[in-house]
Amino acid sequence: MSTAVLNNGLKATWYGHATVLLETPGGKRVMIDPFVQSNPACPKALHDVANLDLLLITHGHGDHMGDALSVIQLGQPKNVIAIHEIAVWLSGKGVQNVSGMNHGGTQEAEGLKVTMTPAIHSSSMQDGDDLVPGGTPAGYVIALENGYRVYHAGDTALFGDMALIGELWKPDLAFLPIGDHYTMGPAAAARAARLLGVKRVVPIHYGTFPVLTGTPDQLREAGKADGLEVIALRPGETLS
Ligand code: NI
Ligand code: MN
Repeated sequence: MSTAVLNNGLKATWYGHATVLLETPGGKRVMIDPFVQSNPACPKALHDVANLDLLLITHGHGDHMGDALSVIQLGQPKNVIAIHEIAVWLSGKGVQNVSGMNHGGTQEAEGLKVTMTPAIHSSSMQDGDDLVPGGTPAGYVIALENGYRVYHAGDTALFGDMALIGELWKPDLAFLPIGDHYTMGPAAAARAARLLGVKRVVPIHYGTFPVLTGTPDQLREAGKADGLEVIALRPGETLS
């Protein structure tokens, strides 16, 4: 069985840190968290973002949306999705086609169903010398055209209601932070996978900065008893 079959036609490229580009079976290009040109982990070859259909933003921190305005200018996404407060902030910067939402809601965009999930973290945008409140942080479950479901947890601690995300939205593949310090570490991420009922995890938010010490091998070890498959990509690598 090839991974292409397992992934149901999805291609996912890790830009390093928490930034992911999904290319769906229906040909849509969906970026989660525009941290590209200033992302120290992102290969230069990926800096020229183009032809985005959808841009999803998990929260306001610079290592997630620090390059939002340049990525929007380059990629011209047809739709930008973020929590209400970030949506308003982006609109104020002149961004068109911003579709604000909030936790628990689902909206259809570009033929995909996008559900915003809670995350246990904080959120704010650096705007010149000011720190602007960014609402509350989020994750997303994205249901592709063929029903395959991808969960991007955003930055988060482990929380028990991940079991409800698993029960209600049944993700097939999860992008989970494992770096520790600002998010959960590998042991908690393995527990998260169990709560979510996912068997396949792509670890993110590790290795970019020295304080992010969690590793895919630690996640593998912690998830061994559950038969967890840990797909560790290199920045720039595509899972297909
Ligand atoms: Ni953050
Ligand atoms: Mn972060």
